[in-house]
Amino acid sequence: MEIEEWEKHYVEAYTNIKDSLKDIRGVFVAYNSNIDAIKHINEDEVKKLVGILGCGAIQEQIINYPREIKDPVDFMARLVISMRDGKAAEVPTYGTDLNEWLMDNLVFDHARMGGQAGIMSNLLANLGLNNVITYVPWLSREQTEYFVDSPNLKYPVVEDGKLVLKRPKDAYDPDQKPKVNWIIEYSKGTNISCAGTCFEVPRDNRLIISSRPEWLRIDMDSELYERIPQIRKEIDGAILAGYQMIKEEYGNGMTYRHYVEKAVNVIESLKACNPDMPIHVEFTSIQNKVIRKAILTDIVKKHVTSLGLDTVEVANALNVLGYEELAYSVMSRDEKSVIALYEGAVRLLKDLHLHVVNIHSLGHFISLVSEDNPVDVEDYREALLFASILAATQASLGGISSIDDAEVGLKVPVYEKGHEDLNSLAAYLVRQGICTMEDFEDGCVNALGHSLVIVPTKVVEDPAGTVGIGDAISAGTFVAMLTKIKDSDKVKCPE
Ligand code: GLC
Repeated sequence: MEIEEWEKHYVEAYTNIKDSLKDIRGVFVAYNSNIDAIKHINEDEVKKLVGILGCGAIQEQIINYPREIKDPVDFMARLVISMRDGKAAEVPTYGTDLNEWLMDNLVFDHARMGGQAGIMSNLLANLGLNNVITYVPWLSREQTEYFVDSPNLKYPVVEDGKLVLKRPKDAYDPDQKPKVNWIIEYSKGTNISCAGTCFEVPRDNRLIISSRPEWLRIDMDSELYERIPQIRKEIDGAILAGYQMIKEEYGNGMTYRHYVEKAVNVIESLKACNPDMPIHVEFTSIQNKVIRKAILTDIVKKHVTSLGLDTVEVANALNVLGYEELAYSVMSRDEKSVIALYEGAVRLLKDLHLHVVNIHSLGHFISLVSEDNPVDVEDYREALLFASILAATQASLGGISSIDDAEVGLKVPVYEKGHEDLNSLAAYLVRQGICTMEDFEDGCVNALGHSLVIVPTKVVEDPAGTVGIGDAISAGTFVAMLTKIKDSDKVKCPE
């Protein structure tokens, strides 16, 4: 399909979805909200930090590839790796020392809502959804200042044995400390040199240093858990994120199994009167492989309907599921990587019993949709186009404060290269007899047992920031898809 025709589909998708968002009763969003301290780093600042720590030490840690940040050298090693590859990463830090060092050596530019659940909750509230019920197990006073203060964004609390939906600012725990993450953003074209290694940053992206204070738990208060049935009638689906914070072991002898089980109980309770209720899990960069695997095989598999990931995360997921070679091919720089991406997505869809796998890459989105998904491929394509508009809006403006802001994203042109990058996948699918070139061009392919929906996306040349773009894509796809589920398919819980 020619770019002009895609643009027409974009306009249609925007108008249709915008008008139907009001049909969604609501969405439940949990678990991770935090405060992001954002710093855009430039060449001179990198040079300064390298000067303080010494190139030799950093180079050594680059080879060791730290999966946890224990000191400033670990931090710089992961920053250089992320900048060298232009790939986003999130690495945990368990103490408070790094925060102090960063405060002393690299003051942040500004703070804003962070965490996938926090960002998605604000976005959905700003889009005007009837109900966004947000939940974070660590709601501090400081955190509430970053939530949109609007009547459709509600926080569940139990008072006198009853469930009450309040605004976050009226629901916080005064003794709770805030969780603050550092986001180091960098721009394409930045030149880095360290001990003879010189490179130019290939892409705008960021490194996230995720603080993991000792009190952090991905959990739900038992009083609230018992009242999930009352939340059900306010929602048509749920988006869950933040499981990456589960630890293998806790000081009190508890292990990850306890929190995995509780996470599954929450999902099962949400689905109690509608086993097909759409439940989306947003994947992310998860350093610990035991946790990464447990999230996929114990939480996602059989319990949730859709999974959202970027290219690197697909490779990481395949890796722990035993598909090392495929994971390796996904990350290769040759043109076969997009074929591996497709084959990897098929594995995820089948092995994890999902209805949908959403993969967002720079320039295109690829979704695999199983026969069990209640939405047909043309409607799903519309959902992806809507998500791309939101992503372009987020990238242009750095945030979305109302659905009308999306007009800005709609004006961003479709990225031609994104379209071209799919040529090798198209040739492969045609060669395999899976589809014709025309089907592929339309973005809707019916393969054996599943469909493939592919759209070229709108890419902003010089984004205002990169944090939150993936969240806008996933939340956008999810709610757009909810608007397409017929009323007759939405099982209502008895009052
Ligand atoms: C992760 C990070 C958070 C960031 C978010 C962006 O949740 O922990 O700091 O805001 O990703 O998607």
